[in-house]
Amino acid sequence: MAQDKSNEKSAASMDTELGRLVVEQGLATQAELQECLDIFRTEKERQAGDGGGRTLAEVLVEKGMITEVQVRRVKKTIEASRGQEIPGYQLLAKLGTGAMATVFKARQLSLDRIVAIKVLPRKLSENADYVRMFYKEGKAAAKLNHPNIVQAIDVGEAGGFHYFVMEYVEGHTLWDELRQGLWDVPPAIAEAPDQAGKAEADQVRRQQVKQLFGEAEALDIVIQIARALEHAHSQGLIHRDVKPKNIMIATEGSVRKAKLADMGLARLTADVEAARLEAGRAFGTPYYISPEQIRGDVDVDFRADIYSLGATLYHLMTGRVPFEAETPVGVMQKHLQEPLIPPDHISTNLSAGIGEVVEVMMAKNRNRRYKSTSDLLVDLEAVAQGNAPLQARKQIDGGVLSGLAHAAGSQELVAAGPRLAGNLMLYIILLAAALAISVLLNLVQRFT
Ligand SMILES: Nc1ncnc2c1ncn2[C@@H]1O[C@H](COP(=O)(O)OP(=O)(O)OP(=O)(O)O)[C@@H](O)[C@H]1O
Ligand SMILES: [Mg+2]
Repeated sequence: MAQDKSNEKSAASMDTELGRLVVEQGLATQAELQECLDIFRTEKERQAGDGGGRTLAEVLVEKGMITEVQVRRVKKTIEASRGQEIPGYQLLAKLGTGAMATVFKARQLSLDRIVAIKVLPRKLSENADYVRMFYKEGKAAAKLNHPNIVQAIDVGEAGGFHYFVMEYVEGHTLWDELRQGLWDVPPAIAEAPDQAGKAEADQVRRQQVKQLFGEAEALDIVIQIARALEHAHSQGLIHRDVKPKNIMIATEGSVRKAKLADMGLARLTADVEAARLEAGRAFGTPYYISPEQIRGDVDVDFRADIYSLGATLYHLMTGRVPFEAETPVGVMQKHLQEPLIPPDHISTNLSAGIGEVVEVMMAKNRNRRYKSTSDLLVDLEAVAQGNAPLQARKQIDGGVLSGLAHAAGSQELVAAGPRLAGNLMLYIILLAAALAISVLLNLVQRFT
């Protein structure tokens, strides 16, 4: 009997929540909801005593206001947000779940505005070191203000869960756009188990991704994110997880606005460890991570973000991540050791200039990357206008000269990329020629 009463109460509260959310999410108007509520209440009164009657959801579906699928989605949101009451905010919908948290759309009651709230799982909320870092970085991020950064608004704790409140971006992620290319692959090809089928799928995918991101379109997005990073770096904040999933795209008329998400969201160095131990899909494959983060270096700086942005640019323009392998460990090993195939060698319609920029962004040795995010921006803007990337050239030439001084043809230079190795060859030939001329002149002098 008590059980029946509690079930009834829970069903009633689900109906109330459902009604509110259906209107909040624009699935039905207030008037349509009212019409269904009237039917629902009348039926309930009529059935009083035998506990029967349809639920509000059933009435809404029957009246054609919403579909069964929409009901399931709304119910999932309600279930996910139960027990996660955050004072001052009203959770409206679940926006997504990433590797370490769930993001909700919510209303900030004091200012009556829509925000996004990332709720950390209990496991992280119980990690004191992480929580300390979470507040420290959250505070620093809230001080940033930039049109290309998802604004951090607040951090806090409720019911044992820590949360991060940020600007809500009406749009989708860059990853969704990349994946869109995949969705368009005919299923018969995408699922073909044989190598030939796979190659064909890859080909189709690449063509489609190329259609999505030409050099100019990719540069448009990456320049916006580089501006966001320039601002954050100037304030001493490093992102540490630049990747397509953390770039939100909002379309404002014909303008595609890119915003860097999760700025100031502290990351555990244990993430890399977890990937290394193959602790599961939970951490995702480290396709964009810098070599120094893989090594677990403690002094990771802005150059790690430049590497990851380079890997993102690579993916956008070629339709491939820079390094692919069967396992996360395999991918990480390649970031550390395998020479990068320049993007303009994969997609021949890319300019050599953008190829040089990506190579410098993704140099394995961070000393060979851009000296500042502002230098990077200068080059990205130059290439976007059809000019040469002079900062990259300076960096490549500097690398070649110090390479000559230290280790001609060493592993490091080879790893720095074929273009660097090519330039090195040119310098060696020039030096050899100069040496030969000087020997010749000496000989001529001696015998005359
Ligand atoms: N500020 C925001 N506004 C609107 N939607 C957001 C916002 N932040 C995140 N989202 C949505 O929530 C989803 C989950 O985000 P989350 O940061 O938890 O994971 P992720 O970045 O996709 O992956 P990972 O955990 O590997 O970083 C995103 O894919 C995006 O669709
Ligand atoms: Mg994210």
